Amino acid sequence: MEIRAIKASQTWTIRHEVMWPDKPFEFVQLAEDDSGLHFGVFIGEKLVSIVSCFIDGDEMQFRKLATLEEYQGKGIASELLRFILKLAKEKELKKVWCNARTNKKSFYEKFGMSDTHKIFTKSGKNFTIMEILL
Ligand SMILES: CC(C)(COP(=O)(O)OP(=O)(O)OC[C@H]1O[C@@H](n2cnc3c(N)ncnc32)[C@H](O)[C@@H]1OP(=O)(O)O)[C@@H](O)C(=O)NCCC(=O)NCCS
Repeated sequence: MEIRAIKASQTWTIRHEVMWPDKPFEFVQLAEDDSGLHFGVFIGEKLVSIVSCFIDGDEMQFRKLATLEEYQGKGIASELLRFILKLAKEKELKKVWCNARTNKKSFYEKFGMSDTHKIFTKSGKNFTIMEILL
């Protein structure tokens, strides 16, 4: 398993397939993608997990963390999350946050992230903002 920087366009297939399969392909292409840092986990040459990071001042938001279904539950996204938290520390950022699907809250809590209880609904899914102060 190897984590590499990737282009935004390399994230789109997994974003679409894993997160929003019922939406058109364009739905997962973000206006902000060009300004993001994108990372992927490769098993051999196969891209299996992705995340996109957006830095604003001394904060980083990560978005669209997803692992191909057949590779889930093996600790792959956990590695990716640890990688970006370390990156944020190296960049001396103060906070990392994400809009988490509420059913994924306990996953993020394992990394020391806490629920801000700022909740919202988007495209029929419930989200809460999770954050960690570094
Ligand atoms: C959420 C998501 C990114 C997690 O990816 P993943 O690669 O399966 O993540 P991990 O394998 O690191 O962790 C998943 C679970 O396996 C557990 N796990 C970690 N290492 C493991 C290992 N070596 N063996 C077995 N299980 C392990 C984790 O503790 C975690 O448990 P939890 O779900 O009860 O918290 C993935 O399920 C996904 O893409 N879901 C659809 C998109 C989505 O919901 N994205 C998040 C939006 S907030």
